[in-house]
Amino acid sequence: MSTPIAIVTGASSGIGREIARNLSADHEVHGLGRNEQNLAALARDAGVVPHTVDLRDNAALASVAASFDRVDVLVHAAAVFERHTVEDAQYEDWQKHFETNVFAPAELTRLLLPALRRAEANIVFINSGAGRRSVPGHTIYSASKYALLAIADGLRHDLAPENIRVSTVSPGPTQTPGGDRDGGGYTQKSDPRTVAEAVRWVVTAPGDSQITELWVRPRNEG
Ligand SMILES: NC(=O)c1ccc[n+]([C@@H]2O[C@H](COP(=O)([O-])OP(=O)(O)OC[C@H]3O[C@@H](n4cnc5c(N)ncnc54)[C@H](OP(=O)(O)O)[C@@H]3O)[C@@H](O)[C@H]2O)c1
Repeated sequence: MSTPIAIVTGASSGIGREIARNLSADHEVHGLGRNEQNLAALARDAGVVPHTVDLRDNAALASVAASFDRVDVLVHAAAVFERHTVEDAQYEDWQKHFETNVFAPAELTRLLLPALRRAEANIVFINSGAGRRSVPGHTIYSASKYALLAIADGLRHDLAPENIRVSTVSPGPTQTPGGDRDGGGYTQKSDPRTVAEAVRWVVTAPGDSQITELWVRPRNEG
């Protein structure tokens, strides 16, 4: 059998980078991101094929998607998370969060559907605890992750008859550049490599079943 092909968004940092690195052991991994230096480092370290793309640019997304005939694994790890309440948020803040965290994963999935169908693929959405319980002061991000959960669940219902598996993996606080910027005062954070292991487990699950949702929380947290 030929080497399975994986696409990972957010491969230039944090959780996405560790997922790309982990999958590169037995997949041909294509990493999407904006930071060319970080993508180049991952290409050197792990052989991940770099694709510099802004997920908010629909034409760029279409052009990347058009280069794939077959995709076995699609992991949506990219996101922005800036702290806003409804009161302090500007319209542009909503746009940025929803375009990056909601519209882009939906659109990239749509564009890749023919290639995903060919492989009876696994699609993984990296969500968050904030996708089930809105985090105080983090309303926009939380709303975007609730929406992402609905997309994953809807896709699963629509694509299950075609043998495509759709999973949500929801990390808790995790040690990443984005997590550091976000702050939050957590006493313990998960290692992003552990989240990557969880994604590997999801995409390699025995073929009779699908892991629909998985939470990865720091050990000292409930
Ligand atoms: N860290 C945590 O504590 C935590 C907890 C729960 C859930 N999560 C989720 O885990 C995922 C990864 O988070 P992280 O902590 O690893 O964040 P991170 O270190 O900030 O990385 C975010 C990634 O998203 C990419 N990205 C953002 N906007 C983009 C755009 N417009 N176009 C292309 N790429 C874009 C970034 O690419 P560039 O840098 O190249 O722009 C970067 O690779 C996210 O879905 C997040 O919601 C994280």
